[in-house]
Amino acid sequence: MQRIVYPGTFDPMTNGHIDIVHRVERLFGEVVIAVAQGSHKHTLLSLDERVMLAEKLFKAHKHIRVKPFNGLLVDFLKKEKITTIVRGIRNTLDYIQECQLAGMNAKLDSSVETIFLPTKETHTCISSSIVRDVIRKKQDSSAFIPSLVNEYLKNRIYE
Ligand code: COA
Repeated sequence: MQRIVYPGTFDPMTNGHIDIVHRVERLFGEVVIAVAQGSHKHTLLSLDERVMLAEKLFKAHKHIRVKPFNGLLVDFLKKEKITTIVRGIRNTLDYIQECQLAGMNAKLDSSVETIFLPTKETHTCISSSIVRDVIRKKQDSSAFIPSLVNEYLKNRIYE
């Protein structure tokens, strides 16, 4: 069994992210979902909330683990003794940005490889920031995120 890290801010985790997690679990065997503190983004949900939601979503899957991280992704990988990262690609913009991240990570640590998985066609329009917008405007976002996340966000935002 091979281990792979799926990093992201997951603010919130969408159906697109979930699809990637299940596909890499099938391909590699074990997935560590690395939830970034996300200091580069102003997140809606705290790190603890994002970790808690991911843990609930995957609690029935013993080969899918959730861990928070702060700082450089390559340092997290070293600590976990994992050398492979996976990222989902929705379009050419993602590809350009992800190539840059993959290149930087490989320069920071030459043992690190990044693989890209194309996002499932039905999920290419999904983005966490659009979901946040839709929820803030009290519109239905249940087509983009799991019901557990949808309910949590609604309670959190409408409270
Ligand atoms: N389906 C649908 N949407 C997807 C998707 C998929 N399969 N995969 C990604 N997305 C979307 C998300 O919805 C999100 O949309 P948004 O930009 O509108 O919010 C966007 O793609 C990316 O979000 P996410 O997947 O959560 O990841 P991220 O880009 O926020 O994560 C890190 C970036 C955390 C991996 C990166 O910043 C990092 O490694 N940081 C640590 C610091 C570090 O090491 N820096 C140096 C790296 S070179």
